[in-house]
Amino acid sequence: MTAHELAETAQALVAEGKGILAADESGGTIEKRFDSIGVESTEENRRAYRELLFTTPGANEFISGVILYDETLRQVAAGGEHPFPLLLADQGIIPGIKVDTGAKALAGAPGEKITEGLDGLRERCAEYYALGARFAKWRAVITIGDGMPSAYCIDANAHALARYAAIAQEAGLVPIVEPEVMMDGDHGIERCAEATEAALNALYRELHAQRVMLEGSLLKPNMVLPGAGHATPASVAEVAEATVAVLRRCVPAAVPGIVFLSGGQSDTVATAHLNAMNAMDTAQPWQLSFSYGRALQAPTLEAWAGKAENATAAKDALYRRARLNGAARYGRYSAEMEREAAA
Ligand code: 13P
Repeated sequence: MTAHELAETAQALVAEGKGILAADESGGTIEKRFDSIGVESTEENRRAYRELLFTTPGANEFISGVILYDETLRQVAAGGEHPFPLLLADQGIIPGIKVDTGAKALAGAPGEKITEGLDGLRERCAEYYALGARFAKWRAVITIGDGMPSAYCIDANAHALARYAAIAQEAGLVPIVEPEVMMDGDHGIERCAEATEAALNALYRELHAQRVMLEGSLLKPNMVLPGAGHATPASVAEVAEATVAVLRRCVPAAVPGIVFLSGGQSDTVATAHLNAMNAMDTAQPWQLSFSYGRALQAPTLEAWAGKAENATAAKDALYRRARLNGAARYGRYSAEMEREAAA
């Protein structure tokens, strides 16, 4: 794998009008999602649900890549002939893999987390590449609270993200680096901006120190938002402006794209925020795109409800959200499109 190939994959993931579907929920997270629709989280139910997502007709018009979980990367579509990574690649969708093993308590920092998964990562990345993955994801969790985030938490997570990114590139996988500043709390938008700026500055310092090739990487950040419990919500324009301002300060132009997480925003709000950023007059050095989990899947999960006979309606719901986010990639989304698309 050459540097050129890594850069090509990174660019393909943020191709015009397209973004990423995050379908890499760990065992615990998918169980929570299934609980919300009253479906038991068995291996077969997880497989059937992921197959539904990956066989949505036309999704490849707007979806460039899908992030998978270890179990899903090894699963096969009904009929037994198409392993999921090949099923996706056949549609021109790039398969990716979540490679961290989760956020655990950070020693000496009550309430803060460090993401684990570096042990054995080189070998796992080699196996994932052989199974068809061409990009990877590692998520760090940064919490805002009393005395948080600490510089210790930010630095420890930035160091781990860079160690992961260097190993992923060596194995031919484009690393998506995800330092997620959580929405939990009643803080205002300024505190989220400060924490995001600190996390991104530390991250790019470490990526540089650890010789990561930025052209072959992508950033998956949170948007700059007030805490979920904050008294007054921010307008769409405020969020877009605050987010772009922080990113312009911190993210080098060599990075081909920024693919936002949705992080608990509703599906329509996540689309509106992305749209507002892409509709700004200022040209940005990187593509501004999406790598949504909940904001793409929520209506699909609801429509499916665990019943095979709802598969078509569930696929329609995914196609529709993907199309609306595809429009937001150009700044061409509007609230009326929600009504049209629902009709
Ligand atoms: P959400 O869009 O649901 O936040 O998930 C994206 C993701 O991959 C978080 O790691």
